Amino acid sequence: MSSKSKMSLTARAMRAASSENENLSWSGDGEARIIRDQDVTKPAAVKFDHVYKTYKLYKSDKQRLLGTVSRRVDYKVINAVDDLSFTVKRGESLALLGLNGAGKSTALKMITGVCYPTRGRIEVHGRISALLELSAGFDGNLSGRENLEMRCQLWGFTREETQALIPEMHEFSELGDYLDQPIRTYSSGMKARLGFAFASSINPDILVIDEALSVGDKRFRVKCEERVKSIMAEDNLTVLFVTHSPEQAKQFCERGIVLQKGTAVFEGDIEGACDYYDNH
Ligand SMILES: Nc1ncnc2c1ncn2[C@@H]1O[C@H](COP(=O)(O)OP(=O)(O)OP(=O)(O)O)[C@@H](O)[C@H]1O
Ligand SMILES: [Mg+2]
Repeated sequence: MSSKSKMSLTARAMRAASSENENLSWSGDGEARIIRDQDVTKPAAVKFDHVYKTYKLYKSDKQRLLGTVSRRVDYKVINAVDDLSFTVKRGESLALLGLNGAGKSTALKMITGVCYPTRGRIEVHGRISALLELSAGFDGNLSGRENLEMRCQLWGFTREETQALIPEMHEFSELGDYLDQPIRTYSSGMKARLGFAFASSINPDILVIDEALSVGDKRFRVKCEERVKSIMAEDNLTVLFVTHSPEQAKQFCERGIVLQKGTAVFEGDIEGACDYYDNH
């Protein structure tokens, strides 16, 4: 049996064991709710239902601190995501398009659990791999290899599975001997390569990509694009893709949503979404 099929067996076993009690739901202030599970039989992989994400913008850090104890401190309200509803069907690839500040990254961060909605309901069914801030979360004092091992452990891979995965990640990252050097000695491009190598090697159910294909030098970028295409060819992989390039969106996605000020102003096939984005 190949290491990949062994891994998916373990992943399935983990899912079966966890599916009953891991209807992991989180309730925020009573108005927000996130439901996460690994149930890949659900037809929707991701669902947003009237989701809002509001930030309070204070004039300074001091004002922000005061704001936690007093209601009389002035602040501006920013609706990063403003009444957003959409569904991503399993196996679908969806592009989120929009100008700077439209709320694309905020939406993806809520899907991956980096931040929480202020209001509304989010459902995520399946294991997510995120190509977001690729170099975030590495421990600078540990080597690349140790960081990869740690991430694999967090993902629930066994020691054997981890040992089988690391050579593949090592080869893809092209880090050579640096894999055993502390991450603090890496350039930012090298960290991004390691992050990309991990996130693209772990066989997720849902792949979330936020402009990650613009990392590294040109040659490595092309290699990343090829890698994402090959992952996307896998059955039933659901993809959420953020890019400022309509060409890239058309290359990778079949459907698109255009966001403006946190709200969806267009939803439809990718050609229509790119036309709307280009002309508004
Ligand atoms: N932590 C935060 N605190 C305050 N405001 C925030 C925070 N994160 C995001 N915002 C604001 O929310 C809005 C949406 O930001 P977001 O990063 O989601 O945009 P984006 O569509 O990803 O933009 P870009 O194309 O530039 O990446 C912006 O106005 C941004 O300033
Ligand atoms: Mg962004």
